Amino acid sequence: MLGAVLTIGILFSSACREEEMTPCSIQDKRLVDGVDFYCGNVVDLNRMGANLDYARIVNTQFNSVTAENIMKPAFLHPSENLFHWTEADQLADYCASHSKRLHGHTLIWHQQLPPWMLNFRGDQTAWENMMREHIFQIVNHFKGKVSSWDVVNEAFNDDGTLRNSIWKKNLGSSYLEKAFQYAHEADPAAKLFYNDYSLVINPVKRKAVLSFLNSLKAKGVPIDGIGLQMHLFNGFPENVEISNAIDEVWKNDYLVHISELDISINPFSQALDKAPQEELVRQAEKYLYIFKTYDRIHASYKFGITIWGVGDRDSWIRYFYNRADFPLLFDDNYQPKRAYCKLIADL
Ligand code: XIL
Repeated sequence: MLGAVLTIGILFSSACREEEMTPCSIQDKRLVDGVDFYCGNVVDLNRMGANLDYARIVNTQFNSVTAENIMKPAFLHPSENLFHWTEADQLADYCASHSKRLHGHTLIWHQQLPPWMLNFRGDQTAWENMMREHIFQIVNHFKGKVSSWDVVNEAFNDDGTLRNSIWKKNLGSSYLEKAFQYAHEADPAAKLFYNDYSLVINPVKRKAVLSFLNSLKAKGVPIDGIGLQMHLFNGFPENVEISNAIDEVWKNDYLVHISELDISINPFSQALDKAPQEELVRQAEKYLYIFKTYDRIHASYKFGITIWGVGDRDSWIRYFYNRADFPLLFDDNYQPKRAYCKLIADL
């Protein structure tokens, strides 16, 4: 009798496991249907033209778009008197014709700058004029097409001090408030964000950013929200750190954008040729936790969640950190992973 019960139990639990393993289909439901906030991704029109599965995922699953690279200073503003709009305009047209929100990334950063900007010489007024022109031209060009901007990206060090970027060196710490003001002048309707990494895992940095931005807001500087990049790992930060960070941001009266979400499974750069099943299970749980935690904040603070890449093969993590990794919702062949299926099933 006991043997029969055990056998049935084993059969039943392995059937459940089997069922859990069954991949879901992206035709059953759409990610955006399960939530009442914007779900975004970084979209590459070349990949879209080259791969039908990629295009189908972008078209059906997401209603917000960020450019992974083509709206950064090096691409949009290659020389002082030249702006290069072609690819970004194509992306804006795609968004307009497919009812997708377009989030602009990014106006002021210390990376992916054109050489002319890095080599720019002039006094503080010349730098101010240069920064104003850069921001004004870009935001004005996309007025009405781009709903929101990462005005300043990654301005803080891990210890909470301001990074000594070309902007800080030449304009002092007031460059941040000026950048927000110039962007607001160019498009008063655009939502303006400060965007950074490690704001979840590093409370010292988060508190420094919040107190700096709060002091600007108190002076009337138009800052609407904070982008928490969230390039995370399966094992860290802990879930409670994620919810603490989200809560701290909205409680300080900022829109919350989870702006560059990916969840790596290979923090120690092991040689992996595929993702271990148990890591995919943990990854799915972590994605679900983040979506659910975000979903419970008040609607007025939800700007949306943007995932940083469609299929694992598109992820910046692989080539930027030179390691095998599988951080996204779809695999190398654009098939749904456990994380996607769990979001679809449980949201
Ligand atoms: C990354 C892109 O994904 C890569 O393609 C590029 O080579 C480097 O930049 N934080 C940011 C993003 O704000 O702009 C970065 O994007 C990832 C880290």
